[in-house]
Amino acid sequence: MEGNKLMKVMSVHADRETANSQIGFIGFGEVVYHTLAGLSKEGIRGMRVYSRSAKDPARSLLQQKRAGEVGAELAVSLEELVRSSRVIISSVKGDVSLEVAAEAARYLSPGQIFADLNNAIPSVKRRSAEIINACGAGFADVCLLELPIQVGSKALMYVSGDSAERFKNIMDCYNMNIQVIPGEAGIAASIKALVNIYQKGVQSVYLEFAACAHKAGIDIRLLEPLLVKPLVNLPREKDMAFWLIRGALLAKRKAGEMKEVLKMVEELGIHPIMLEATIQRLAWVARFEMNKYFEADMELDKYTEIIDKIFEISRDIELEVR
Ligand SMILES: NC(=O)c1ccc[n+]([C@@H]2O[C@H](COP(=O)([O-])OP(=O)(O)OC[C@H]3O[C@@H](n4cnc5c(N)ncnc54)[C@H](OP(=O)(O)O)[C@@H]3O)[C@@H](O)[C@H]2O)c1
Repeated sequence: MEGNKLMKVMSVHADRETANSQIGFIGFGEVVYHTLAGLSKEGIRGMRVYSRSAKDPARSLLQQKRAGEVGAELAVSLEELVRSSRVIISSVKGDVSLEVAAEAARYLSPGQIFADLNNAIPSVKRRSAEIINACGAGFADVCLLELPIQVGSKALMYVSGDSAERFKNIMDCYNMNIQVIPGEAGIAASIKALVNIYQKGVQSVYLEFAACAHKAGIDIRLLEPLLVKPLVNLPREKDMAFWLIRGALLAKRKAGEMKEVLKMVEELGIHPIMLEATIQRLAWVARFEMNKYFEADMELDKYTEIIDKIFEISRDIELEVR
């Protein structure tokens, strides 16, 4: 066997052995509790958790009870958790993730892996990776794409960064659902942020929509079947291509139509926050006149050509893509 192949096999083997030693979680909120509950159902116990509120007299009993339920051990300090774990998974909050990574770095050694599954922006994940790498440890940028409260330890995670493969090898021993995305730390975080733009956008549209329906005296439940599957004969994952093509090619007309709808929403007394944004985005794309280059019945799989064209034209007509 070639030298580097042999090294790789040995490293995977070492990682599988690591799986029998310590995995430590920082934070003991919804994600960690339900992930550990899922693992516990499969008979995997003995994971370690650092919860800063375990020291709080008002909360420590509850924390111990929850740890007992999922068969986890509570570490006495962050230092103790980090020093005793081969893989440390930070599951706190996006806005404190950098500070938690910096504190953990004080106790990390080469060979350990620090995995950050917080919803932090890519630049923060890259900065965390630099801090972790500076002490010789590996970094895994993890993004959580399904809810542990629904699917326990089987929640889909994408992972990028220098230690993504090693992290997957170790966590695969626990039958977790991890997919490596090639590239540096920050790539997984970018994917999560993009998914969030979509999901939070849809949530906000639903909220504005529900308020309008209520004011218009329409039972919103009547609209459920129209929204869930608006496209006939098309698999759900093709929705984006279909709407992106129509949005880009018919933008001018759609923006005009929505200006009329905006008047209706104003008459209802609802501030059309999402609707105004819709009109702005359609008017923006209309300026690129994509209908000069593509037909509305173009092949769905070619929809990315529209985006490439917009960026190409933006240089020629000095219209910034923003
Ligand atoms: N919930 C989900 O399904 C989901 C999905 C995708 C991504 N995420 C991400 O996963 C992470 C965890 O989410 P969660 O829902 O489990 O949050 P959560 O229920 O609010 O729990 C957060 C945990 O972090 C601890 N914590 C907060 N600040 C800390 C600090 N400075 N040092 C140490 N511990 C700290 C909290 O401790 P205290 O209780 O003492 O405050 C708590 O144990 C977040 O970054 C979230 O964005 C969650």
